[in-house]
Amino acid sequence: MKILQINSSAQGNNGNSTKLANQISQALLAKNSQATHSVRDLSITPADVVDPAGLAALFTPEEQRTAEQQARVARDDVLIKEVQEHDVYVIGVPMYNFGIPAQLKSWIDAICRARVTFRYTENGTVEGLLKNKKVYLAFARGGVYRDSDRDSQITYLRAVLAFVGITDVQPIYAEGLQMGDEMKAKGWAVAEQEIAQYVA
Ligand SMILES: Cc1cc2nc3c(=O)[nH]c(=O)nc-3n(C[C@H](O)[C@H](O)[C@H](O)COP(=O)(O)O)c2cc1C
Repeated sequence: MKILQINSSAQGNNGNSTKLANQISQALLAKNSQATHSVRDLSITPADVVDPAGLAALFTPEEQRTAEQQARVARDDVLIKEVQEHDVYVIGVPMYNFGIPAQLKSWIDAICRARVTFRYTENGTVEGLLKNKKVYLAFARGGVYRDSDRDSQITYLRAVLAFVGITDVQPIYAEGLQMGDEMKAKGWAVAEQEIAQYVA
């Protein structure tokens, strides 16, 4: 088992999603003695935002790319290789203004690459090319949204992960972290119980 932990909190190691992702990784390591663990912290090394220069670089045939365009594509290549080479991802997902952090969105934009992590088949359907992967999503939220229609994070993440071939997705929630001490303690207790139940 090769575990890749992706942190996306703007608060780095102090982020609640990072703490939760750390706990999930620790549980995985405790249960899988041969496992390796790598961390990509998007607050330290953010992925490039999709912009005109980035798209032009991607759409220029490889042999015609300028040095700058080659470097731009190479930065995304590093992220793609990283996901290809790992089989379990633990993704820290803070909720910021009802959505995922921009850093996490940019990372997703970087790893979704046609003919590399997904492809369109002859009959027009999509085939995800990241096979046999498992994802743990470490959600940290000030409020409580689980199982409600305001939880667009889980809907979006399940959709985009399925697009690249990943359907084995286990969410773990730490919610209500800004709703007073009692709710906060309850939120962490639920998360800990779910780690014990679902992380294997
Ligand atoms: C910019 C910003 C926006 C936030 N928006 C929301 C929100 O829409 N809903 C919510 O429940 N909590 C919101 N929060 C609270 C965070 O979800 C909470 O602090 C959580 O711990 C963030 O994860 P992190 O600590 O890993 O960064 C927001 C916090 C920040 C800093």
